[in-house]
Amino acid sequence: MKTQVVIIGGGPSGLLLSQLLDKNGIDSIVLERRTKAHVLGRIRAGILEVGLVNLLREAGVADRLDREAFLHEGTILSFEDMQFGISFKEHTDTPVTVYGQTEVTRDLYAARAAAGGKIEFTTENVTLHDARSDAPYVTYTVDGEDRRIDCDFIAGCDGFHGVSRTSIPEDVRREYEKIYPFGWLGILSETPPVSDELIYACSSRGFALCSMRNAHLSRYYIQCDLDDQVENWSDDAFWSELKRRIPREAADRLLTGPSIEKSIAPLRSFVCEPMQWGRLFLCGDAAHIVPPTGAKGLNTAASDVHYLHRALTAYYRSGDETGLAGYSEKALARVWKAERFSWWMTSLLHRFPDQTPFDLKMQQAEIEFLRSNREAQSVLAQNYVGLPY
Ligand code: APR
Ligand code: PHB
Repeated sequence: MKTQVVIIGGGPSGLLLSQLLDKNGIDSIVLERRTKAHVLGRIRAGILEVGLVNLLREAGVADRLDREAFLHEGTILSFEDMQFGISFKEHTDTPVTVYGQTEVTRDLYAARAAAGGKIEFTTENVTLHDARSDAPYVTYTVDGEDRRIDCDFIAGCDGFHGVSRTSIPEDVRREYEKIYPFGWLGILSETPPVSDELIYACSSRGFALCSMRNAHLSRYYIQCDLDDQVENWSDDAFWSELKRRIPREAADRLLTGPSIEKSIAPLRSFVCEPMQWGRLFLCGDAAHIVPPTGAKGLNTAASDVHYLHRALTAYYRSGDETGLAGYSEKALARVWKAERFSWWMTSLLHRFPDQTPFDLKMQQAEIEFLRSNREAQSVLAQNYVGLPY
């Protein structure tokens, strides 16, 4: 087989890239290790920056989002019972869109199917070859049959545990990592959200987040120990702990119900440099990971996809290679800003086991400065709604 771009990974990065390339007349094949049902079974965050929404519109994949999503013009931060709002509208005149990332992936799969996009599921032994040449190729196995695809370029959209990043030689890669000493225990419940806006809560018992998917589906998280287990948490135990961490007036109006999903996720910051090697280009979680506090995972993958699809389009349309040559530098410039914001929000709002009384005072002073200073709130708002591409 031959195609122009082989895309490894059928998550949001790979699907969005394939759709945008298709819109620009560029052929691609997506290789996905899992089944479509498995990919769509993943519960992910639900905050979309305007840049991602614009990309989905450019890709022709925003119709359901426009019908079902809702806009948030601010968020709430709390410290014990003290709470304050930060207005995105006042500081940036830009909202964020609340729409499950799983729904984004579902819409992308539907769009690829409607366009006759080529996606191979349950692929095994995906291996990249000759990425440094001008004739790279990918081999893999599907249904016991060995296959080969010759291509012009390879896009590594296969997430943190994929094969693309490690196809770049170890002595070429520079990896930066921070593993946080806690996780997030999250639940999904068919209950109305406790608040019209998200509540990011810092408390002496740890962090909590009150989020949502729609008016009837809520998403809540509490910080938990790294070695904690979902089995340790009954629904009642979760709700009781959440109420202890959010402001009393929110706890008093919280409507609880059975969890329809419950899971624990670890938190890490990670960046691989460079994000390209020969004709291999990394996008999304294949190249970088953020703690979910700033809701930057998919939104940073989106800017990677934006840069790469424009670079590939310029190459095929006019032979212009400047976008491809500068992809890694361009993408990393925005990646590191998202890493900084996600690390800062995580450091601001979580309890760290080794925190000294002085550290706690610094954390409280940081939150008080944020509460009382317009410019500090503006900086948070600019980062949260999404820095420019
Ligand atoms: N071969 C083929 N596919 C693979 C391989 C492989 N060797 N390894 C991983 N994959 C697939 C995974 O099964 C997954 O579906 O690559 C896909 C990667 O998808 P994600 O992990 O969701 O990463 P990405 O598409 O970059 O999404 C970025 O979006 O889903 C949100 O917040 C989430 O941070 C994440 C962001
Ligand atoms: C979510 O709704 O899952 C969510 C929202 C905001 C975050 C993280 C997760 O910062």
